[in-house]
Amino acid sequence: MSSTLNSVVVLTGAGISAESGLKTFRAAGGLWENHPVEEVATPEGFERNPQLVYEFYNQRRRQLLSDEVKPNPAHTTLAKFEHDFHGSFLLVTQNVDNLHERAGSQNLLHMHGELLKMRCLNSQLVFDTSEDFTFDTHCRCCRSAGNLRPHIVWFREMPFHMNKINQALESCDLFVAIGTSGNVYPASGFYQTAKIRKAYTVELNLENTGSGFDKRIYGKASKIVPQYFESLLV
Ligand code: OAD
Repeated sequence: MSSTLNSVVVLTGAGISAESGLKTFRAAGGLWENHPVEEVATPEGFERNPQLVYEFYNQRRRQLLSDEVKPNPAHTTLAKFEHDFHGSFLLVTQNVDNLHERAGSQNLLHMHGELLKMRCLNSQLVFDTSEDFTFDTHCRCCRSAGNLRPHIVWFREMPFHMNKINQALESCDLFVAIGTSGNVYPASGFYQTAKIRKAYTVELNLENTGSGFDKRIYGKASKIVPQYFESLLV
């Protein structure tokens, strides 16, 4: 890695929130909290059974807002690093939780959406929500029921903020992926985009994902993320 570090991009996945009490996706054999992803994370699943999909995300939101779920030292380390680092820093997360915000991260993009937001299917306007909503909830813009969906990127939908993310990847010196299995495109290819401009690439994960990073450190995020980012500021 070059000794001058001007620009850092970090990608996080479900592994960073595992020690905060939120289950990862692939830990349970392709099930997300006991549901096949096709049922609860595809546009077709929503068309087939909207009630199930609303209830699924309502439960995830309630769980996220419960007292048991809090940022862990990996989240707080990234917020502190962003504050103390003098170069440019972008945090991209595939997670739909709000643990990075709660830890204090600022320059943050949610590429797969957010549990605490809903979207109107007519206007595409996005609204904050910490409450349950269903097919019967009246939309704040068109005032009728049946138009709201979770603001979550489902399989076969386009992730958010891709232009900004690609620009940052193409100009960073260091790219770090934390707690992601590298199974879902396009996030799985970010380290290759970063390498085009010769960025140094690092994986911090519980296990080897088999991807071609320059450096890999294995262990729990709450331990290895503080160790690695503190070493960068020395
Ligand atoms: P996965 O569940 O696929 O992968 C989680 C990764 O975190 C695995 O490689 C684990 O080994 C690792 N891990 C687990 N516990 C950890 C810990 N305590 N410390 C460090 N690493 C740990 O989750 P993602 O890669 O985030 O998409 O999944 C990507 C996308 O697939 C998600 O954003 C979601 C899902 O379908 C959408 O919802 C669109």
